[in-house]
Amino acid sequence: MTIKNIAVLTSGGDAPGMNAAIRAVVLAAHHYALPTIGFFSGYNGLIEASSTLLTPASVNGIIHRGGTILKSARCPAMLTEQGLKSAAATLRKEQIDALIVIGGDGSFNGLLALNKYWSGAIIGIPGTIDNDIDGTDFTIGFSTAVNTGIEAIDKIRDTAEAFERIFIVEVMGRRSGHITFNVGIASAAEQILSFENFSQADEQEKLSHLAKEIKQAQHNRHASYIIVIAENLWPGGAVQLAKQLKQTANIDCTACILGYIQRGGSPVAKDRILATKMGVAAVQALIAGKSNVMIGERNNQLLTVPLDVAVQHKEKVSESLVSAQENILGLTAQ
Ligand code: F6P
Repeated sequence: MTIKNIAVLTSGGDAPGMNAAIRAVVLAAHHYALPTIGFFSGYNGLIEASSTLLTPASVNGIIHRGGTILKSARCPAMLTEQGLKSAAATLRKEQIDALIVIGGDGSFNGLLALNKYWSGAIIGIPGTIDNDIDGTDFTIGFSTAVNTGIEAIDKIRDTAEAFERIFIVEVMGRRSGHITFNVGIASAAEQILSFENFSQADEQEKLSHLAKEIKQAQHNRHASYIIVIAENLWPGGAVQLAKQLKQTANIDCTACILGYIQRGGSPVAKDRILATKMGVAAVQALIAGKSNVMIGERNNQLLTVPLDVAVQHKEKVSESLVSAQENILGLTAQ
């Protein structure tokens, strides 16, 4: 199929670098003399036919901006036949031949479902702070989120040192520990608690182990103690863990939930560059006649991964990262 009109949208949790990806798509499409339509607010923009023509001027001065100029949303209507049909109807009406979606696996599932009602070409660009997409070493936004987490913990560390206080810092990541492990290791956290090294059945055991480790650290006058914990891991999260440590071992901890600061902010160089490479590659893939693929990067090489493969599994946290933490765990407390 010859591509004449490209559409792009951002969907799911916004991630720093999404704007850089939009910019790259628009500029690359312009280079190949293809117009780009941007749909607003994720798939809602398709359902509600809310769009704008994106020109090189519209993407000027956005590479450094967090969020997304196209806005984003999670769109439950894409789980319904009616929603999918309306989205497909808009694409037909606007004579779109190819749709590029920048988002996570939920957004890619929406794209695959849409393709049953609309036969244009589809390409996914992985944009999520969670880094949990199979088929790529890094997703757009992950590096910035990790750096934000590290900066925040470096600051928390100052108070932790000054007051000899224990902090439990909860980071985002949905149900995977990429952010948790990377932030934990880079900020020299005394403990990292994530899906990869904890299961619900171990809760009591982990609690008493933690209490023992903290008491040992206090005994050794280790000034600060930081536990980095993944969101959605501990029932009740960091606040509940702090309560349990108080109740079971009389340990005072301060819970701190980093939350949405990890999703915002100006993208770091790595995300801007990754987003630019992926945006250009997405347009080139379309011109080469590809469809139903996600643009990924493995070992610094761009590649295309079938979309249905990309959504099948979550990208695992590297074993070397988990094992690095296991092998230094506790050493700081001695
Ligand atoms: O997927 C990105 C993410 O920030 C996750 O880390 C987090 O669990 C989720 O989105 C929060 O989603 P929402 O903003 O829709 O509540």
